[in-house]
Parts: sequence; structure tokens; C-alpha cells
Amino acid sequence: MIKRIIIALVFPFLFIHCRQAPTPPTGLVTEKAMVVSAREEASKIGVEIMKKGGNAFDAMVATEMALVVTYPFAGNLGGGGFMVYRKADGDVGGLDYREKAPLAAHRDMYLDSIGNVIPGKSTVGATAIGVPGTVAGIIAVHKKFGSLPLEEIMAPVIALAEKGVVVTANQEKRLASQRDKFIEVNSDSTKFATVFKEGDVISYPNLANTMRRIAENGRDGFYKGETAQKLAVFIQENGGYVTEEDLEKYEAIWRQPVIFDYKDIRIISMSPPSSGGVTMNQIFKMMEPYEISKFGHNSEKTVQLFTEASRRAYADRNFYLGDPDFVDIPLDVILSKGYLNDRMADFSFDKATKSEAVSHGSVEIIESMETTHYSIVDAEGNAVSVTTTLNGAYGSKLYSDELGFFLNNEMDDFSSKIGVPNMFGLIGAEANSIAPEKRMLSSMTPTIVERDGKLWLVVGTPGGSTIITAVAQTILNTYEFNMSMQEAVNAPRFHHQWLPDMVIFEPEGFSDELKEQMKAKGYIINEDRTPIIGKVDAIRVLADGTLEGGADKRGDDAAVGY
Ligand code: GLY
Repeated sequence: MIKRIIIALVFPFLFIHCRQAPTPPTGLVTEKAMVVSAREEASKIGVEIMKKGGNAFDAMVATEMALVVTYPFAGNLGGGGFMVYRKADGDVGGLDYREKAPLAAHRDMYLDSIGNVIPGKSTVGATAIGVPGTVAGIIAVHKKFGSLPLEEIMAPVIALAEKGVVVTANQEKRLASQRDKFIEVNSDSTKFATVFKEGDVISYPNLANTMRRIAENGRDGFYKGETAQKLAVFIQENGGYVTEEDLEKYEAIWRQPVIFDYKDIRIISMSPPSSGGVTMNQIFKMMEPYEISKFGHNSEKTVQLFTEASRRAYADRNFYLGDPDFVDIPLDVILSKGYLNDRMADFSFDKATKSEAVSHGSVEIIESMETTHYSIVDAEGNAVSVTTTLNGAYGSKLYSDELGFFLNNEMDDFSSKIGVPNMFGLIGAEANSIAPEKRMLSSMTPTIVERDGKLWLVVGTPGGSTIITAVAQTILNTYEFNMSMQEAVNAPRFHHQWLPDMVIFEPEGFSDELKEQMKAKGYIINEDRTPIIGKVDAIRVLADGTLEGGADKRGDDAAVGY
């Protein structure tokens, strides 16, 4: 009996993370509600909707639409995404509004007559377009959880599209870098053939009209009638495959998210066809036995452990994961304790594991870095975490001047040919091969974290295959290294994804000494100029219930709240 009492008293402490004093916030703090997104104008519109009495789901619809206007680089009507939510009562769920392959798609559609991948066909122009899911996504969210009329939610977005948005210095650079491609794909009469400078205002009257049809007719305002007809004709005239039937058949799907405990926090993230939740679950569980807080933030031991866990998790990601409606994914095995312990059995702090030694074969992922994420908490405590994308920068670059939006190049997230790299080095496995109506594998990782059974973090980022590691590091920064939300978001990040067998560090924040020590243990360090890794937008609920925003300093991202 006494033994049982002692176990009952001591046991919980073995697993509860050693708590330090609460970390003071350094980001924007607001009392009730907040939106953090890639553009201040979009965050403001989301907040405006909540001030009018809307909930986090109404704000999701408004923010998603506002990003189409303010951030056409990744915000979209012509793409797709994923949402993870946690309602104030603790109910959690996920929405998959990922694009899917058109009915005319087939496994070898990007191969020539001798079986070689045709350069550019899955990345640029109409042939790269998957059936867009975003409008189905927002309508599904609104139908299930919305509290304000759709027209009221869309009104400020439509007004902004009419009035126009000021070009930022970052946007000027992004537009300039893609201008030649815009002209090549669309001709020089397209809107984006214009040279836009910082401070210019871009308005979108045709987009406003398209959005009016969505506001008035909901899903049918996009997937049927005038918009669907014009969109299908436009894509096909440009050589693409999406038909009116494809549009009419598209449905967003509610999915059970991936839920797992890490020490004394609970992580809720997106399930397949996103690889985010599963891969992050594997990474965290492989790291869990270690006292990471004692190793120190971005110390050699922390970087090594994270790298080795990522190496093993990405090897599984690339082999096993795909659209769960088309492939059987052995989740019960690859997420089990025994399996993950075995995966780490050969790990040692003394030397790097070689990626060839880890798994099935040459499966490499190099995904586009251009996506966007936003996080929302409302005054009732409902939270939504949303990542949405066109895939590449401005997607396929195909822009419908008549409808006012860019189309995705998401077909490139499929494996065009098993085991052979396409022009961007993308190699995939059978689980992610192309089939009609199948969804392509994603890395988008919209995530919510609970602590003590309560909402604690809402977090996510763009960054292609680096999304998963950037989200995981942001969570570790707050939990293990006691950083504020803003510090956790701004902290320097690193990345490893099995193949290429290389650790990538952001340009700032990692010493030469660290890199030399790792090289001495056999790690291959990327010596080329490294791009930034992710742009995390997150919210932390503080002990007194107020909210701290973390808007990534790497972009024009902004937290707005009240
Ligand atoms: N297109 C990027 C992703 O879905 O992960």
C-alpha cells in the first residue's frame, strides 16, 4: 500500500518537465483575441471580424481571403491548405483542403515517351495545376463553425481588393524576381508584367468580383457557374487539365489530427495527406528520453539529437506517407514507442549516422519554400492554426487577369517518377505517386499545443520540407528553453531531412566552432549561402490568459489583437 502511495506521488514528477519561472513576453500582448499572419492588413481584417462579434473561425475565413489580396505570393484562391483547430471546450479537429490531381491525371503524366521527366511541366504554367481547395476549405469552416454571415465576413476583404494594397520592400523584391516568368507564362499584357515599386498600390477589381460571387453563392460561387466555367476554360486554353467537372467534384475533408504527448505538453497537428503531424510526432518521441533543456538551445548536443531524430523521421516520411484515401499508412507501427526506440538504437553523440544507413533508399525531398501560415485565438479561447499555399512563389505563375488570382503548381508535390529527381531534385516514393483525384503529400504543419490541458500555443510556418523542423524547434524553444513566443519565433533555425545528407543552418546565429565540432563527428554542413528557414507566426497563451504574438522578423509578418 505504502509502495503504491509513493509511486503515485513520485511517478508524475518523473515525467513532468522541470518548470522554470514563467517567461515574460517580448511580442505584442493583447487581452482577448489575436491574429498573426504574413501581412498586417490581413491580421487587421481577421481582428476586425472578431471585434464585430465573429469567432476564430469567422476570422479564419476573413484572414485566408485577405491574404489572397495582400500576399498573392502564397495567399490564394487557386491553391489549398490545412487547418487544425481547438475549440474553447477542448474539442480538436483538422480540415484538409489540399489540392488534388485532376481526373485526367495519371502516374506518368510528366514523363516523355522514353520515361524521362519533362522539365518544367509539373512546376510552371497550366500543366502544373492541381484542383484548388481553398474556397471549399473556407466554406466548410464557415458552415460548421461560422457565426457571422459570409457576406459580412467577405465585405472588408472585397473593399480592400477594390482599394488596393501598398507594396512593401519585400514584395517589390519578390515581384521583381518573378517578373520575367510572369511574362513568359502569361504574356506581357498580364497585370504582373508591370514593374511595381515599394509604396505603389495594387488594386484587384476583378478579384473583388470573383470574391463577390463567393460571398453571395458560397462554394457554388467558385466551383460552379461563371467562375468555374471561366477558370476551366482559362486553364485548358493554357494547356492544363482541370475541368469544370474537377471543380464541381472538389470537397474539403474533415480529418482527425495527429495528437501526441511530449513530456507534459500535448501536441495537435495535421494528419496525412500532410506529413507534418506524423513526422513531428516521430521527431519529438525520439527526443523525449533526453533532458534537452540541460543541453542548451542550439548547443552541439541539441543540434545533433534533433538532426538524428529528423534524419530517421524524414526517411519514414518519404517512404510511407501519401494520401490516406489512396495508400495504407502503417501509423500504428511508425508512431509506436518500440519502433521509435529501435530507430534511435544506433544513435550516439560521438558520431553522425550516415543517411544511407538509415532506410529504404534514395528518396529525397526538395520542396518549394513559399507557403504562408496564420494563427488565431478569439475572445472565447477558440484557436485555429492554418497553413495555406500555391506551392512555389506565385504558384505556377499562371495568373487569370479575368478572375484576379494565381493558380497553384501543387502537382509538383507528387512524385513525378519514383526514385528519379525532377528538375528541382524532387524524388519520391510509390505512396506519393500520381493518380486521378489523389492529394499530393504536403509538409504543412499547422499545430496547436496544450499545457496542463489548456490552450498554450498556436504555431505554424511556410518553408516546404523545412516547415516540420521549424515548427518543432519553435515549440522546443518555448518549452525546453523557456523563450517568449517572439524570441522562440525569431531564434535561429537549422534543418536536416535525411537526404540530402546535410545539415543546413540559417546564415546568422550558429558559430563556426559548432560547425567544426559537428564536421569532426562526420556531419556534412551546408557551406553554401543558406536561405532563411521558415517564417513562423504563432500565439502563446500566458498564465493570466492574455495572448503573446510571435510574428516572424524574417518577413512583413504582424501580430494584431485587442
Ligand atoms: N507545397 C508545400 C507543401 O505542401 O508542403
